[in-house]
Amino acid sequence: MFQRPWTRRRILVLGLNTLAGVGTAVAAKAAYRHQKVQSQVQWLASVDRSFAIEGNTALRERAAAKGLLYGAAARRGDLEADPSLAIQYGRECNVLVPEWELKWSAGSSLLRPTPSSFNFTDADWMVNFAQAQDLIFRGHTLIWHLCLPSWFETTVTRNNAEQFLVQHIKTVVGHFAGRISSWDVVNEAIEPNDGRADGLRNTPWLNFIGEDYIDLAFRVAAISDPKALLVYNDYDLEYDIPSHEAKRSAVLKLLERLKSKGTPIHALGIQGHLAGHETRFNAQKFRKFLADVASLGLKILITEMDVSEEGLPADFQERDRIMAGAYEDFLSATLDEQAVTALITWGLSDRYTWLTDFYPRSDGAAVRPLPLDENFQRKLSWNAIARAFDQAPVR
Ligand code: G3I
Repeated sequence: MFQRPWTRRRILVLGLNTLAGVGTAVAAKAAYRHQKVQSQVQWLASVDRSFAIEGNTALRERAAAKGLLYGAAARRGDLEADPSLAIQYGRECNVLVPEWELKWSAGSSLLRPTPSSFNFTDADWMVNFAQAQDLIFRGHTLIWHLCLPSWFETTVTRNNAEQFLVQHIKTVVGHFAGRISSWDVVNEAIEPNDGRADGLRNTPWLNFIGEDYIDLAFRVAAISDPKALLVYNDYDLEYDIPSHEAKRSAVLKLLERLKSKGTPIHALGIQGHLAGHETRFNAQKFRKFLADVASLGLKILITEMDVSEEGLPADFQERDRIMAGAYEDFLSATLDEQAVTALITWGLSDRYTWLTDFYPRSDGAAVRPLPLDENFQRKLSWNAIARAFDQAPVR
């Protein structure tokens, strides 16, 4: 068959056609997703739920009545600048988690200014604030592949990574020993899309030290504070969709490996970042996962719960009802599992949420992912959490 010559023009035309084709396919996929989200939202909006509650007892009391803990993440800057916010934490929470201050480097906090120094100023402030408000304090997070300071990449190597991991954990956990009830020792170490048979995420820690970095981190933390509850924390474990199923399977296998080698791990942290439009939550499948984790002798914490609003309507009433439904459906299944001991929301008021910067609404309206609105008024999501605590079995 006659082959046309590969002229520059022919290559250019073929390239443009390919790009156009790819562009069309991407646009078609986006349109399909948008249409799917909209149909899910329409169904959710049609479901009439009242979220009625009895009394106005705060979440901390409702949780404590069932042997559970309720708390929220916060940043020093917000608590310091907004005394009315600080009051809400003392009223609604029995646990406080620092959103930034115990990471190596996040936002305005820099725990690790240099390879050989630690700056505990912000973290000390948060621990002292928690103590003053009679709040239990959770540490988040010791070993993560994100929020590494600028010097990390040019300083940490295969030869010294283990020394940096051990020194960081010994120094930080040792500094707060006896004052921090639980630690997210390792955060988000599973990523099946990285293609490893063990499902581990390709992080600097894995690449420099090998898969035993996780076991090592827990062992050093256990020696540094024998009283602290040591947690493995991860996300995308909640829905009945292939990516979450794959991640649940990989996390469970990691926990089984760690338990079989005697790693001092005490709990799994399920972050609980939900999507308001998502209807594919399968309570039975999720309960099975929780039961499998509990059968390893592990406790379970919901560590960062909030509900994002892709595609949700602008109308507050409609939006809040859909989001309250997401909170109640997830928590009514989750709190049935006796091994679940705590619920932490990733913030308390809509006035201060990471989702404002990370997942803003396309219409520019303020996001509403948390139990209290931007004026610290209780929303239907607050009711949903209160109902879940009220209906939970006593621990
Ligand atoms: O607000 C400043 C903005 O003024 C500035 O222009 C911008 C660029 O420097 O930074 C903004 O601050 C950022 C902040 O998010 C906004 O909320 C910080 O740099 C950024 O570090 C911070 O990201 C945090 C992220 O973890 C990485 O540390 C988020 O606050 C925090 O909510 C998020 O929390 C994580 C958990 O630790 C782990 N699980 C997932 C969760 C959500 O991503």
